[in-house]
Amino acid sequence: MLRLLREDAGLTGAKPGCEAGECGACTVLLDGQPVTSCLVLAGQVDGSEVMTVEGLERHGKLKHLKHAFADEGAVQCGYCIPGFVVMSYAAIRDGKASDIDGLKKALEGNICRCGGYPKILAAVTASAESGKGGP
Ligand code: FES
Repeated sequence: MLRLLREDAGLTGAKPGCEAGECGACTVLLDGQPVTSCLVLAGQVDGSEVMTVEGLERHGKLKHLKHAFADEGAVQCGYCIPGFVVMSYAAIRDGKASDIDGLKKALEGNICRCGGYPKILAAVTASAESGKGGP
């Protein structure tokens, strides 16, 4: 599904990283649930809703979360950030970001090669505490 999104649909927010389900750079929402799109076959999503980071932005779901990332300086090279944002959105929406341990567990499948975890966690926490990061 990752290649379909990027190459056919022109939605390049989901990034190819490991392409083995290990890094989370390709995370999208499939029927509302975060998945690593590199492991999902395009044929498996027929009839399902796929929401990329672009879709979340387009539907106004990221207004506060993206500002929290910017305010905390949580973006270094930026490659992993769309995956983190999609996963963070789901974590906040599902109440998994109300404490730091829950948030760490929710984001454990997303890897930042720059090591920017403290600022990413701070950004998601700030967005969750504002009550405005989710739907
Ligand atoms: Fe899909 Fe790494 S590219 S998990």
